[in-house]
Amino acid sequence: MAFRAALITGATSGIGEAFAHALPPTTALWLTGRNEARLAMLAAELGAAGRPVATLGADLALPADQAKLVAWLAGAPIDLLINNAGFGRQGPALAEAKAEDRAMIEVNVQAPVALAEALLPGMIERARETGRRCGLINVASMVGHFPMPYLATYAATKAFLASWSDALAVELRKSPADILTLCPGVTRTGFFERARFAGGAPGPGHSADAVAAAALATLGRKPHLVVGTLNRLSVLAARLLPRQLFLRGAAAAMKRRTRR
Ligand SMILES: NC(=O)c1ccc[n+]([C@@H]2O[C@H](COP(=O)([O-])OP(=O)(O)OC[C@H]3O[C@@H](n4cnc5c(N)ncnc54)[C@H](OP(=O)(O)O)[C@@H]3O)[C@@H](O)[C@H]2O)c1
Repeated sequence: MAFRAALITGATSGIGEAFAHALPPTTALWLTGRNEARLAMLAAELGAAGRPVATLGADLALPADQAKLVAWLAGAPIDLLINNAGFGRQGPALAEAKAEDRAMIEVNVQAPVALAEALLPGMIERARETGRRCGLINVASMVGHFPMPYLATYAATKAFLASWSDALAVELRKSPADILTLCPGVTRTGFFERARFAGGAPGPGHSADAVAAAALATLGRKPHLVVGTLNRLSVLAARLLPRQLFLRGAAAAMKRRTRR
């Protein structure tokens, strides 16, 4: 599907940056993140051949910056919104990290909902007028499928986003909007270092490029994607196991990793 203009949150690294590279040069890019130096480098690189690339530095943990982003987008011809920005924190749920967890709820939950609310009605209206389609990709996570001890707030934010996104997809199934709930498993990005995972990423996982490519290939075909066969089997296993048994196993595994 060829989109005219895409907004990517968290475009400065990892999966968001991979989306920016994966979209065809005919798609204008509207990129945001906190790292303004990185945004400037991406604008120079991706706009070198004349493609329009607009950037805005914004901290999505701040409601004022969420509003600033929405205001910046007024009148922008966005027809693909990629709600990708997000971060996690490994450790006990009641650790002294209350401010960090509140910020996580802003970035992982409030910001994607606020952006979809602000942009999607106009995107759908323009798609109807032009006979085209528009798209929304919400980057949730495989761990949004179950509670995850020692990653409690992060998993809960992704459960919210996945649930909200899946419900929205059904509500809008007769509209010209394609919604995709994207649930990557372990992906090789800076995520695990930022989340202070003891020992780094738990497994080799996928590349960010593979995740972005799989998402773009799935958008418009299916509303929900867990990336990778093993991850799909893990989600199924978690669903089939008695909940308390699964939770105790997950807690033991995560606690071991937290202590290392
Ligand atoms: N890596 C994985 O294994 C994995 C698995 C499942 C889901 N995910 C999800 O995939 C998405 C992308 O993560 P990633 O793996 O690509 O990690 P990453 O390389 O750390 O990228 C995270 C992106 O989010 C942005 N971001 C973080 N906090 C922000 C804030 N307060 N305001 C604005 N932007 C913020 C960062 O931009 P700045 O640094 O410029 O602010 C960065 O561009 C996240 O939603 C993550 O939860 C990742």
